[in-house]
Amino acid sequence: MAFQEPDSSRTDTRDSALPSHVGFIMDGNGRWARALGKPRTFGHQEGLKTVKTIVQATRDHGIPFLSLYAFSTENWKRAADEVRFLMDLVVIHLRKEYDFYRSNHIRVVHSGDMEKLPLKVQKELELVITDTASFDSLTVNLAINYGGRDEILRAFKRFASANLPAGSSHAEGLRQMSSALNEQSFSAYLDYPNIPDLDLLIRTGGEQRISNFMMWQSAYSELFFSEKMWPEYSTADLELALEFFKNRQRRFGGTS
Ligand code: IPE
Ligand code: IPE
Ligand code: MG
Repeated sequence: MAFQEPDSSRTDTRDSALPSHVGFIMDGNGRWARALGKPRTFGHQEGLKTVKTIVQATRDHGIPFLSLYAFSTENWKRAADEVRFLMDLVVIHLRKEYDFYRSNHIRVVHSGDMEKLPLKVQKELELVITDTASFDSLTVNLAINYGGRDEILRAFKRFASANLPAGSSHAEGLRQMSSALNEQSFSAYLDYPNIPDLDLLIRTGGEQRISNFMMWQSAYSELFFSEKMWPEYSTADLELALEFFKNRQRRFGGTS
């Protein structure tokens, strides 16, 4: 077996003061609203204000990539009214903040299975994605109808159709495809391959789980769990998480 050069980007020990890519599992909207005696949907509506605050703060910090988990592949299990409300809220947010994203030179991208989203959501996303494509102050990656496992499976299907040579025998085709398969070649087929691995993953709402978010990209993420519900999460809370990140020593499997 050939000896493989280690991937130096993964084996270095790095102490970066700032993460390049921060991801949020924006959880707790429903519980926050219920505690106030309001419907769960009120929490989702108020949560949009936190989205804007955190996008602005991330940009002010000079962090280049922000991923926001807005709707999971499992969230379709919720009541039809809540799902409809959330889909409408995506459209409302993108329309309302179109000028905000453009005037702040923020690029918007999407992760997840676009095809299964309602057409109006697809259209609005495509418009904002196209009209912000040249910006580079911050990339905001909206994870909508996103599941980490689903992303990996869809990536594998794309990888296979690009790497299975036409006309060769079944066995020869599989042999060629598996010899082309490695972490780098495979990750090029993820939803947004130009985004670096997740450095810091923050979950609000008190639960300590990943809930199918960025399974591939979070292999070496630092994890930070906040008790705050998403609608009450503030820039001061973000500062706490960034301070936590600053004090981590990342070894990536190496030694210090
Ligand atoms: C997060 O808040 C938003 C979405 C998952 C769409 P929740 O709706 O999960 O709120 P809780 O966790 O039930 O409080
Ligand atoms: C994770 O929150 C998904 C999003 C924040 C979009 P959930 O509320 O769906 O996760 P579980 O069900 O508590 O794991
Ligand atoms: Mg939740």
